[in-house]
Amino acid sequence: MKTTGLFITLEGPDGAGKTSVLEILARRFEESGTDFLRTREPGGIRISEKIREIILDNDHTEMEARTEALLYAAARRQHLVEKIIPALEAGKVVLCDRFIDSSIAYQGAARGIGTEEVRSINRFAIGNTMPDLTILLDVPAEVGILRISEGRGHEVNRLDAEGLDFHKKVRDEYLKIAESEPERVILIDATGSLTDIAEVAWDSIKSRMK
Ligand SMILES: Nc1ncnc2c1ncn2[C@@H]1O[C@H](COP(=O)(O)OP(=O)(O)O)[C@@H](O)[C@H]1O
Ligand SMILES: [Mg+2]
Repeated sequence: MKTTGLFITLEGPDGAGKTSVLEILARRFEESGTDFLRTREPGGIRISEKIREIILDNDHTEMEARTEALLYAAARRQHLVEKIIPALEAGKVVLCDRFIDSSIAYQGAARGIGTEEVRSINRFAIGNTMPDLTILLDVPAEVGILRISEGRGHEVNRLDAEGLDFHKKVRDEYLKIAESEPERVILIDATGSLTDIAEVAWDSIKSRMK
């Protein structure tokens, strides 16, 4: 599918700062008069919202891991087709909070379905619309957990060892993706100040827009 815009995704664990960085980047795009779309899955797409309700329904205790992975991929496709691709075809910059790499890291690696399996169903779902640029915000698992706990006012020690192990697997897989696709993925140490992180992200975006 031929598109003319620039497709940028933000990745990283919860607490890495994706929402905060997106906020700053969106302001930069506004200031520079760039036509952009800021979105996140399920992106307000009604079919994708319904699929997400099915995934998240507490009553659906029998849902199996691969079913969940397929549903996420299905929701991703609808959001892509209804919202992202039209914006790219209109020449916009698209900033999307999480995309295919989240599925590979969370479901493929941390949940243990297998990264190649999850990659292959996602390739089917997205066709050849891979992000032009992926900004990966990297923090040690403990840092992300701490930031989220502080934000939500929870005690950090409530998190058990298994929780930490899961988040470490997520991080390791993200790092592997960054290593294997250095052209697409820019890895940013996200333990520093938000201003510095946003600056590095903005520079990497500008260099792709030339
Ligand atoms: N670089 C940073 N330094 C310190 N705190 C941060 C940083 N980035 C984000 N935070 C804080 O961490 C929490 C989670 O940030 P958020 O942007 O929502 O992350 P994400 O969207 O990746 O889950 C928020 O309370 C935010 O203010
Ligand atoms: Mg967020």
